[in-house]
Amino acid sequence: MPTQNKQYANLWVFEHPVIQDKLTVIRDKNTKHVQFRRLLNEIAGLMFFQLSRKYETKQVKVCTPVEESTGVQLANPITLVPILRAGIGMTDGILAMIPEARVGHIGLFRNEKTKEPVPYYCKLPKDIASGPVLLIDPMLATGGSASYAATVLAEHGCTDVQMVCLVTAPEGVQKMQKEHPSLSIYTASLDRCLNENGYILPGLGDAGDRIFGTL
Ligand code: PRP
Ligand code: URA
Repeated sequence: MPTQNKQYANLWVFEHPVIQDKLTVIRDKNTKHVQFRRLLNEIAGLMFFQLSRKYETKQVKVCTPVEESTGVQLANPITLVPILRAGIGMTDGILAMIPEARVGHIGLFRNEKTKEPVPYYCKLPKDIASGPVLLIDPMLATGGSASYAATVLAEHGCTDVQMVCLVTAPEGVQKMQKEHPSLSIYTASLDRCLNENGYILPGLGDAGDRIFGTL
């Protein structure tokens, strides 16, 4: 179970030893993209299993080979929304847990100078607001990208939105708390701060480059 951060009520941190062990390998600058991607997806799946525990369910009739019984199913369609491109690096791990989830995409990159998000793509299910939405991005740094994406989801009527990030910085968590107070963020780590280039410290470098081997 993740622990609610004492300072930021919107932040839930997975202190689970298996997740922390994998995160440490991911942070290592000598870890190559094949292992980086595999571990990131494994952590994403583990996180999803926990953060989905309050998803609404409904009772359904099920006929076993022996008798009629009652079972439980998810009540509403789930939509995953990775922020391109690094969010893709966590999506397969979550789809392994819930293959029936729909996947919308929001394409953003950070302007290197201003650190502001630059949008370039958006494709979401028309009825996205009919169920829980999980916004996915391994990195929450200034929070500019996540806040922009959360605003897009709000404009599409989404009210049940959670976010999963591998690593977060206090600056980004604070921005999300201010601009999207109802959105809970699930992470493996609240890191120390950002450096002068907007990179998370200690962080793991550029997540997209490390996932896709474009360093
Ligand atoms: C990275 C990361 C986030 C964003 C976080 O993406 O994946 O989307 O930066 O920074 P922020 O909180 O300051 O907005 P990047 O812009 O490097 O694009 P990429 O995923 O295409 O590499
Ligand atoms: N984006 C990344 O990929 N890494 C950081 O540390 C900050 C933003």
